[in-house]
Amino acid sequence: MNNSEIQFPEINQIPKEHSIEQSIELKQYLCNGELITWNGSTQDVLSPIYIKHNNDIKPLRLGSFPLLNKEASLQVLNSAVSAYDLGKGVWPTMTVKKRIEHMSAFVKAMKEKRLEVVKLLMWEIGKTLKDSEKEFDRTIDYITDTINALKELDHDSSRLKNEQGIYAQIRRGPLGVVLCMGPYNYPLNETFCTLIPALIMGNTVILKPAKHGVLLLCPLIDAFKNCFPPGVINIIYGHGKETVGTIMESGKIDVFAFIGSSKTANIIKKLHPKPNRLRSVLGLEAKNPAIILPDADLQLAVEECVLGTLSFNGQRCTALKMIFVHENLKDKFLELFINKINMLKAGMPWEKDVMLTPLPESDKPRYMKDLIDDACQLGAKVLNTNGGHVQQSFVFPAVLYPVNNKMRVYHEEQFGPVIPIISFSKIEEPINYMVESNYGQQVSIFGNNPDKIAQLIDPLVNQVCRLNLNSQCQRSPDVYPFNGRKDSAEGTLSVFDALRVFSIRTMVAGKENDINKSLISAILEGRKSNFLSTDYIL
Ligand code: G3H
Repeated sequence: MNNSEIQFPEINQIPKEHSIEQSIELKQYLCNGELITWNGSTQDVLSPIYIKHNNDIKPLRLGSFPLLNKEASLQVLNSAVSAYDLGKGVWPTMTVKKRIEHMSAFVKAMKEKRLEVVKLLMWEIGKTLKDSEKEFDRTIDYITDTINALKELDHDSSRLKNEQGIYAQIRRGPLGVVLCMGPYNYPLNETFCTLIPALIMGNTVILKPAKHGVLLLCPLIDAFKNCFPPGVINIIYGHGKETVGTIMESGKIDVFAFIGSSKTANIIKKLHPKPNRLRSVLGLEAKNPAIILPDADLQLAVEECVLGTLSFNGQRCTALKMIFVHENLKDKFLELFINKINMLKAGMPWEKDVMLTPLPESDKPRYMKDLIDDACQLGAKVLNTNGGHVQQSFVFPAVLYPVNNKMRVYHEEQFGPVIPIISFSKIEEPINYMVESNYGQQVSIFGNNPDKIAQLIDPLVNQVCRLNLNSQCQRSPDVYPFNGRKDSAEGTLSVFDALRVFSIRTMVAGKENDINKSLISAILEGRKSNFLSTDYIL
């Protein structure tokens, strides 16, 4: 076996601590605080990890989940709508302090499920053990940071203002019912990055898990059920048309939180009969370039470009999806880059130091091959030995050079292990690529000359929302703004921004007169309102 091959295991070769003892047959869905039994059709979940048996090899079946119909989807919708009760429900009118208590109970219960969730992340989407653990721990940190950010926000809102003789207390209130859909590459973290702020701001939520990564939420269902009032969090499973389509067509969704493709987002948004009432929070495609300038530190650029293009096999919205390298450095860069890729370890997610793993989307190897074939027909070459080699669900990374604007891979977000490289002589070439691109998330610039870099910073920060200096593109740390221009995003998601995205400023105001003075004092001193209150959360 060479480095470009992957060794799928026999069942008895899987280390005991990582093996799946039993399939998960999910037969219930969470609606109105109850687990309702589903007797209709179900969807099998197959792992991207194939298992060898004698001369046979096939994906491990991990379990199944319900394919809810329209009727069940409407029942779930009604649960969220009733719990919100046009803003009069228990949850939207609850004090921030109490909502934080519910969320703290949830995060405590969630921590106990770390091992189960991490194991399912590996088996359902093929993410390495290290990255699966990181995804879980990062999500816990995100919840804790969100709680702390909300306390801060509440501190700022806990005092009465008086401007031009008008008393006012301004707070952020919920928006309504949120439909929350996460992506398969971060099925826990990115789903929770919208779910948690939506919940804690007092909205009620319908959660639809990502297309891969449904079962890994199962260990958390009891915590959802036990830690929040009935109807505040509800979960649907199934085909988009029957579930999301039915719910959106009702016109009762107030916020659509979605991380995925713009094609799907646009289809879903258009189903809402009152588009003005619908707010959208979207994380969509990106085609982040790396630009390697003539004076760049090559070792550093190669290391960051390998991480940027191939962490989780390139299945990150923030991945580097196009490399522009100055022609003076091209030969050396390609040599070092390919050497580094050849040294990457391919294997099962639990193996030590593994980087390249099986892909969860069954049609992805075919798509990778199509992009490679198209580029090769138009003049590119696969520079690395065995680049693009496919074994069942595994694709060895393909380094494509020279790429040009006739090729599909120049425009399409590959979201996988295909690495297009272009050499340039004039800096206008990568700049024009960014200006003309449909996407505007991030860019990585590699170079040392302060004058040259400064000249690039000023125009490029207006093309994207994060310019990374001598570093790969990435979302973290989660307290920094995560967003994009053009077709890459709608709304900003950081711990701080997400609390604002899922809420609206609302206020109680009144002229400074004797009646209002005694009225407001009586309400405050008697702690009669959850909103009009100067209580300080410690
Ligand atoms: O898929 C997009 C993720 O938000 C990327 O997050 O840069 O931390 O891997 P990351």
